[in-house]
Amino acid sequence: MTIQNSAFAVGPEPLLDIAALRADTPGCASVVHLNNAGCGLMPRPVLRTVVEHLELEAATGGYEAAAARAAETADFYAATARLLNTRPGNIAFAASATHAYTKALSSFDFRPGDTVLTTRNDFVSNQIAFLSLRRRHGVRIVHAPDRPDGSGVDVDAMAALMRAHRPRLVAVTHVPTNSGLVQPVAEIGRHCRELGLLYLVDACQSVGQYPVDVAEIGCDLLTATCRKFLRGPRGSGFLYVSDRVLQAGAEPLYIDMHGARWVAPGHYRPVPSAARFEEWEFPYATVLGCAAAVRYALEVGQDAVARRTPALGALLRERLAGVPGVRTLDRGPAPAALVTVTVDGWEPLPFKAALDRRRINSALSFREFAQFDFRDKEVEWCLRLSPHYYNTEDEVAEVAAAVAELAAEGRR
Ligand SMILES: Cc1ncc(COP(=O)(O)O)c(C=O)c1O
Repeated sequence: MTIQNSAFAVGPEPLLDIAALRADTPGCASVVHLNNAGCGLMPRPVLRTVVEHLELEAATGGYEAAAARAAETADFYAATARLLNTRPGNIAFAASATHAYTKALSSFDFRPGDTVLTTRNDFVSNQIAFLSLRRRHGVRIVHAPDRPDGSGVDVDAMAALMRAHRPRLVAVTHVPTNSGLVQPVAEIGRHCRELGLLYLVDACQSVGQYPVDVAEIGCDLLTATCRKFLRGPRGSGFLYVSDRVLQAGAEPLYIDMHGARWVAPGHYRPVPSAARFEEWEFPYATVLGCAAAVRYALEVGQDAVARRTPALGALLRERLAGVPGVRTLDRGPAPAALVTVTVDGWEPLPFKAALDRRRINSALSFREFAQFDFRDKEVEWCLRLSPHYYNTEDEVAEVAAAVAELAAEGRR
């Protein structure tokens, strides 16, 4: 089924036709999927695109299939550029958000004493990458403090650190993996622009849940995955690279024959576009599936999604509030659809297994995913429930009831 805008527009306010969207999502028939922050359920057009390309590869040959679908592959860049408000030449495909992130980091020629300024809620793998840069290159890592109420980074304090340290890189995760916190990335971006600092944003949990506009954020680099709130296939992500960074000649540490031309025995020249951050070998079926997922997200409408998805998260928090033995952990004025809770009397794996048995999909986060945040909240683990627009209010009620029932068991 190809979705039409009209199917989702009722009156002047574009409303989502949840029944149609669910009918377009095979997984909705078998699970209550509240693990979209892990991996969203693919809609039919994405699934069909991936499968059809694999079939074409099997029937005609992998290189031949790629040639036959060159225009559709190019549309991955065009669609993703529309999603982020940029141009196709500023987008690179990546195997994951982490792959995009480490490629971006590898383009910095870090020197001992260079500073990376980040937050206490940046993603675990990014924090590990900074630590590895510290070990290898003597980079200093500075974490901006949070506001005292835990509602995210203190932007004024972060701006003061920018002026004091003149960091080589400012790195901020928009929405972390370990809570529904939404960081003020555009406000931080304005300080970076004013001070001429390079700014890398991890938008892995925000792309597909909110409109993400690289011009408005003012970032130089932005990374995301396709499998989460964009509902694309696994093993895919992308990197946005600004014109400023491309024109300055940034390139990844290991650049290959796709990212550069070998123009003379002793010389190579990076290609002008962000393709210099890609590699020659491509999972074409996955790239085409991502293009379908991004087109689907655009057609559903990012504003409509941003109205519904965090609201379902808020509804779940509301239903869990006051359940004895359950504590919701998300902070900030308007949390994203990542609902994190602790449940007294349970160990993490049995608790998740009990939800699995009810065909409720969820995820666990542990202290090692969020060393600062979980220390502040004094928790070792939490359960993460992450609805998306295609979930229903009834499903939210069912999950809240299941958590409450299990919490009561835990207290016996
Ligand atoms: C905030 C954030 N950044 C980055 C990642 C890493 O994404 P990937 O697994 O595609 O590398 C995740 C994954 O959960 C995430 O939540």
